[in-house]
Amino acid sequence: MTIDLPSELITELRKAKRIAALTGAGISAESKIPTFRDAMTGLWASFSPEELATPEAFARNPGMVWDWYAFRREMCAKAIPNPGHVALAELEKRVEHFTLTTQNVDGLHQRAGSLRVFELHGSIARVKCVDTGRLLDGEIPECDEPPPRHPETGGLLRPDVVWFGEALPVEALMESAQAARNADVFFTVGTSALVYPAAGLPIEAVRAGATVVEINPLETPFTELATFSLRGKSGEILPAIVAALDV
Ligand code: OAD
Repeated sequence: MTIDLPSELITELRKAKRIAALTGAGISAESKIPTFRDAMTGLWASFSPEELATPEAFARNPGMVWDWYAFRREMCAKAIPNPGHVALAELEKRVEHFTLTTQNVDGLHQRAGSLRVFELHGSIARVKCVDTGRLLDGEIPECDEPPPRHPETGGLLRPDVVWFGEALPVEALMESAQAARNADVFFTVGTSALVYPAAGLPIEAVRAGATVVEINPLETPFTELATFSLRGKSGEILPAIVAALDV
């Protein structure tokens, strides 16, 4: 399959000294991790965010929330990075400054070899004490009635992800915003561009004069602002971009 890429984009990328990217659930779709908002298969099509992804939900029903994240933790651990993740790791090697910001909690960018990754919504692989925020070091303890407790603090363990109504990690957000403002080229990949503040990053990049490239099979609210909107799967388009840089 050949993918038509705008030659102006490849020229811009060859010149770029600073590239930044924002990724969302779509980049991991080809690794068989469901997205959130797909009408049929999305996680939010069968589960309500209010019942699973808020501090109030955990306070009401910690066992149910723990089990849902435990199921997803296992799915993410078994998933394999796809050519889209690998292409972003490859791009990082080819440019002076590369910043990757992800809304994903699956760790697949790091497993594909990306080095400078800011996880805006945390990581599903980590768990922490719900009372003190202290991270668990080591294996999750077995217990009869989940969630297990933190062995040092005694508090219930919860996933180290950002729930609705919670603040994002400050350093990750500040570094990402700065990268968006300084980027020559900014990629927004596999995100519905609906959840802020992440969705504000490509807008900052546009305002600062970057070439902004959207990669998504569908239109999003950001599409009309994008310099280039490439319709298709990130696992096909991103490798094609990297290959085009070699020609
Ligand atoms: P969404 O599920 O909202 O959007 C996924 C996007 O990926 C959609 O625009 C799809 O069209 C696109 N997509 C699907 N397959 C793709 C593929 N193969 N290649 C490229 N794009 C593809 O996921 P996010 O935008 O990541 O937050 O959602 C943002 C946040 O909302 C998540 O981090 C999560 C969720 O609620 C929290 O849990 C805090």
